[in-house]
Amino acid sequence: MTALKNDRFLRALLKQPVDVTPVWMMRQAGRYLPEYRASRANAGDFMSLCMNPAFACEVTLQPLDRYPQLDAAILFSDILTIPDAMGQGLYFETGEGPRFKKVVSTLADIEALPIPDPQKDLGYVMDAVSTIRRELNGRVPLIGFAGSPWTLATYMVEGGSSKDFRKSKAMLYDNPQAMHLLLDKLAQSVTSYLNGQILAGAQAVQIFDSWGGSLSAAAYQEFSLAYMRKIVSGLIREHDGRKVPVILFTKGGGLWLESIADAGADALGLDWTCDLGEARRRVGSKVALQGNMDPTVLYANPQAIRSEVARILASYGTGSGHVFNLGHGITPEVKPEHAGAFLEAVHELSAQYHV
Ligand code: CP3
Repeated sequence: MTALKNDRFLRALLKQPVDVTPVWMMRQAGRYLPEYRASRANAGDFMSLCMNPAFACEVTLQPLDRYPQLDAAILFSDILTIPDAMGQGLYFETGEGPRFKKVVSTLADIEALPIPDPQKDLGYVMDAVSTIRRELNGRVPLIGFAGSPWTLATYMVEGGSSKDFRKSKAMLYDNPQAMHLLLDKLAQSVTSYLNGQILAGAQAVQIFDSWGGSLSAAAYQEFSLAYMRKIVSGLIREHDGRKVPVILFTKGGGLWLESIADAGADALGLDWTCDLGEARRRVGSKVALQGNMDPTVLYANPQAIRSEVARILASYGTGSGHVFNLGHGITPEVKPEHAGAFLEAVHELSAQYHV
């Protein structure tokens, strides 16, 4: 494999010295970019982009071609590829988000779910990873990802997105054994899926626990964190002579950082509700931190964006162990120039913290 030309993202995740703070954006390939909208129109729809390795590679590289400051690429795919491979029948209704043809409601439904084989059932994702690695040619590292078992379970039980998690939380409290069986199957599926991505060329992996923050403190430990810990302990941590860092991102997990930091990952993703400097003091030397600008700051003008970047960098302070990111995904309404101003500000203003 070609040597990496820019490895500051991997170095910061392992708390090794860097020249400037590395930066990438969750959902960096997406609808705020006109070139993404054009590719999606060409492919027909979102799932066709994901399922065709050439299209997935094209849209993964679009933000990197536009913004030379980006220090990492993220595989273009979706967390819901796993439930789809389990036979749930994923589809997207325009403007309505994800939907499933089959919904998981009973213990019998859960018992019948297969554990997907990454090569046989998700080969299109493995092919996308190897295609992107080849095309990146060492420019920046490639991040692979999956959803957390709890986050995937909410979509499978609700049949799509939800505001109140009515069915999934009812199952958790009414029938905890059924929920545990579902989460256990998902943890096994996510482990082999992420290991497949690592073997195909992903150089770091992130677990998106987008809905962990909807749980009580006790339920979070038992129904979300326990399964992420299990996944982390089953991941390949070194490949091709390099460590493969693991990032856990629980949106709304700010109250539980100490216990998340004990789950065995290399880094924690933070949303914008926590103070980065305080988070650093709380987790100590256990993990690196990734985040955490409120993505809505990108609606403001470039000067305001720059001040917010400066504030967050100062809050973290000197030394490595910080990967700059948004606290959640960039939204379709953001002007591409504003994303550019954000990325430029991170590199320009962070050099002073790495001397
Ligand atoms: O970060 C990246 O650039 C990589 C691509 C990526 C997508 N989805 C592409 C996508 C990643 C990492 C995801 C993860 C994902 N998918 C999560 C976890 C992260 C988070 O946002 O909390 C979740 C919860 C999903 C499920 C999902 N996929 C939803 C709820 C939606 C619809 C909401 C929306 O933004 O439209 C999707 C669709 C989706 N996934 C899009 C993209 C670019 C938009 C599809 C389109 O082009 O219309």
